[in-house]
Amino acid sequence: MGYVGDDDTAPILLDGLRRLEYRGYDSAGVAIHSSGEIKIARAVGKLRNLEKALEEKPLAGTTGIGHTRWATHGRPTEVNAHPHQSGPIALVHNGIIENHLSLRTRLVERGAKIVSDTDTEIAAHLVHEKLRENGKGLEDAVRSALREIHGAYALAVLSKDEPGRIVVAKASSPLVIGIADDASYAGSDIPALLPYTRKMIFLEDGDMAVLEKGSVRITRLDGTVVERAIKVIDWSPVMAEKAGFKHFMLKEIHEQPRAIEDTLRGRLDREHGDVHGHEIGLSDDDARSIKRVFLLACGTSHHAAMTGRYYLESIARIPTSVELASEFRGREPMIGEGDLVVAVSQSGETIDTLIAAREAKERGAKILAIANVIGSAIPRMADAAFYTHAGPEIGVASTKCFSTQLANLMMLSIWLGKRRGSLDEAKARELVEAMARLPLLMRDVITGTRQLVCNLAKRYRDARDVLFLGRGLNYPIALEAALKLKEISYVHAEGYAAGEMKHGPIALIDSAVPVFVLMPKDRWYERTHGNLQEAKAREGQVIAIATEGDESAHSLSQDVIEVPDVPEAITPFLTVLPMQLYSYYVADFKGTDVDQPRNLAKTVTVE
Ligand code: G6P
Repeated sequence: MGYVGDDDTAPILLDGLRRLEYRGYDSAGVAIHSSGEIKIARAVGKLRNLEKALEEKPLAGTTGIGHTRWATHGRPTEVNAHPHQSGPIALVHNGIIENHLSLRTRLVERGAKIVSDTDTEIAAHLVHEKLRENGKGLEDAVRSALREIHGAYALAVLSKDEPGRIVVAKASSPLVIGIADDASYAGSDIPALLPYTRKMIFLEDGDMAVLEKGSVRITRLDGTVVERAIKVIDWSPVMAEKAGFKHFMLKEIHEQPRAIEDTLRGRLDREHGDVHGHEIGLSDDDARSIKRVFLLACGTSHHAAMTGRYYLESIARIPTSVELASEFRGREPMIGEGDLVVAVSQSGETIDTLIAAREAKERGAKILAIANVIGSAIPRMADAAFYTHAGPEIGVASTKCFSTQLANLMMLSIWLGKRRGSLDEAKARELVEAMARLPLLMRDVITGTRQLVCNLAKRYRDARDVLFLGRGLNYPIALEAALKLKEISYVHAEGYAAGEMKHGPIALIDSAVPVFVLMPKDRWYERTHGNLQEAKAREGQVIAIATEGDESAHSLSQDVIEVPDVPEAITPFLTVLPMQLYSYYVADFKGTDVDQPRNLAKTVTVE
């Protein structure tokens, strides 16, 4: 959030940050131009703590920037909180600077004193360095610094020597400018600015802007001046927080392409058909000597782990078991040195997963955490943390965290497979390229299937039982589809391995039961196809989730939800999307509390 105008800036920044708190809440801070200096206040934890700090020690001034943090690099501590400073520069940043490690080394060699673990502080030092070298002022310094920064950013920068001015810039991360007669605003999202102005400019990637009281000048990184249209936003503040979506869950479903993009950023090595694996915390020798992998998780994360097992076995060729953390605990498992435990947990706090991982550690296994919340308990106790970068997930039913967990499990498998020699060059390249295409493909599947899925939800909303069938990689997706439907719409649903249908659930099928069959073109296709026919023969309402152009699926099913033709390992990323949408729409038609379903909690810290 940024403000430049005539009013006292601290209350405006705090108010804006409060509306952005759903995006991150592990620390917050402001930098304010105050009597020729830049003054900073920061606090760990919720915004309330920063408010208290400012009540005790107010900062007066009419230009300022503020930030509420969702950690991506470095734990949530005061030192890591934004704004970051270097000399006369104060800076806040959203996103991930990919080349922060090499920039850090270079800056340190030239004498920079870097105090935090963040990628953001690197940007502050780089702008400072450019300011000293060029001597042409803040705008020029930010422009020169950005030419050396790779990755995603939305930045807002102040210089002590240029009161009444904020420089902002954007690449990949969202940044909105608010226009008023006597003030200018910047925010990472519409809700922060909505109480002050409805006139907004959405910067494009590669844009920079200089904000002064009531004036905004936009340029490209090469300095060319550009005009961007002013849009008038008529959303209510509540709609704005959800980016115009009715519920956080729907917003988060739609955010998945972006979440995957952020999670893959800086990790796919497309040049070598490989993955940059330093966060995995294993040496190449370790990778070769691992005997077994245990995946520990609960709930939706457990379903991601089940798909992960296919990746680890087929790509890395390591014997892998998937364990419900609550069942692994206290079982005296046969685990020890040479075993790698991957604890998968969106929150990083689930007590069963935490304790199970601790037990495994005590027995000598190495622990790798895959978590979304930086500095949470499981990554803290683990030997290494390979974070997903989905951003905060508010809806209790996990969606974007699930798909980013799949991405990390895939990257882990590719990294291991390359080092163990089980993954040949061509296959590795095929997977890495398919991963890189995922954000686009996911966007297409969400927009392409949304209407049909909504119609199906309307038609089947009152079904008493719903069956989801899948095999292989898509068996966990069938389980996940059923879990989603149960948890948010309170409809009884079963996910089943398609081959097991004949051993029980087939008895449930009659003309009132919708049967969703996940059957992309993969090595299991023919057999799943057979199960579809069995369901149809019992007069079930069959809906296929199939590869585009699958005529046979069309001729046998009531409806077909189509997904693009991709390498089979990639299919779960796409098939899960219409399943999430289906459970969402059923719940919405039923009018349940989608984001906070009854009896459930987002983070479960009880055993
Ligand atoms: C709760 C949530 C689920 C989640 C599960 C595991 O039950 O409602 O959405 O899948 O916990 O959580 P974790 O944070 O460990 O992934």
